Amino acid sequence: MSASDRSLVVEDVALTYGRGEAATLALRGVSLVARPGEVLLIRGPSGSGKTTLLQLMGALKTPDRGRVTICGAPTSGLSQKQLQAIRLSRIGFVFQFFNLFPTLTAWENVALPLDLVGRDRRAGERRARQLLDDLGLAHRADHRPGQLSGGQRQRVAVARALAHDPLIILADEPTAALDGASGQTVVETLRGLAHREGRIVVLVSHDQRLADKADREITVEDGRIVTEHAKPSTKLSGEIA
Ligand SMILES: Nc1ncnc2c1ncn2[C@@H]1O[C@H](COP(=O)(O)OP(=O)(O)OP(=O)(O)O)[C@@H](O)[C@H]1O
Ligand SMILES: [Mg+2]
Repeated sequence: MSASDRSLVVEDVALTYGRGEAATLALRGVSLVARPGEVLLIRGPSGSGKTTLLQLMGALKTPDRGRVTICGAPTSGLSQKQLQAIRLSRIGFVFQFFNLFPTLTAWENVALPLDLVGRDRRAGERRARQLLDDLGLAHRADHRPGQLSGGQRQRVAVARALAHDPLIILADEPTAALDGASGQTVVETLRGLAHREGRIVVLVSHDQRLADKADREITVEDGRIVTEHAKPSTKLSGEIA
C-alpha cells in the first residue's frame, strides 16, 4: 500500500443543507489530508461546519462538490450500501451526541459494529467487555445508556468506535462530558491509536487536554479552513514517528 492508499484525502468539498431560502452552505471548499500515525484536531466556532466535515470524511454523507478518498477509495458515486461497507471496514465514529441504542446494554452497544460485520456473538461480547474495561467501565457493561452518566455514555461511544478495529477513528467532541481521570483515559486511548498503532485519528474538540496532544490543528470558520498548523512534536520515544 502506498502512503496515499492509507490516508484520508479531502479535496475541495462543498456541502449545502436544504434549498432555496432555507439553504445553508455548511462547507464551501475544504481540502485536507489526514495521515496514519497522526492526531488531527479540527476546531472552530459552533455552526462552522466541523461535524459536517467529519461526516463527509467518514462516508456518512457525500459532498455536493469535491472528493473524499478513504484509503484510496473515492466515496463519490457509491450506493448507500457501498458507503456502509467502507464505514464498517475502515471507520470508527464517536458521535457528538453518542447515538447509543437505549434498549441495548453498554456491551451490546459496543458489540453492534461486530454484529454488522458478522462476528461471532461470543467473540463480540468478549471484545466489547475488554474495551469497556480498558476505558474503566467494566462495572457498567450490563447497564443501559439511560442508567449511565453522560461521561460513561461517552466512553461507551468511544469503545463502540473501536470495536471493529478501524484504521480511521473520527471523534466529535469525544471528551466534552468527561473530566479528570476518565477524560485522560480517552485522550491517551486516542493518542495511542495514532502514535503506537499507526491509525488515523481525527478529532473535533474544544478540550485543551486534546488540543495539547494533537499533532496538527485545523481551524474551520464559516465552512472554510482558516488556519492550519503542525504543533511541536508531542510524541514520546517508542511511538511510531
Ligand atoms: N441537517 C441539517 N440541516 C440543515 N442545516 C444543517 C444541518 N446540519 C447542520 N446544519 C447547518 O450547517 C452548518 C454547519 O453545521 P455543523 O453541525 O457542521 O457545525 P459544527 O461546527 O459541528 O457546530 P457545533 O460546534 O455546534 O457542533 C450550521 O449552520 C448548521 O446549522
Ligand atoms: Mg458539531
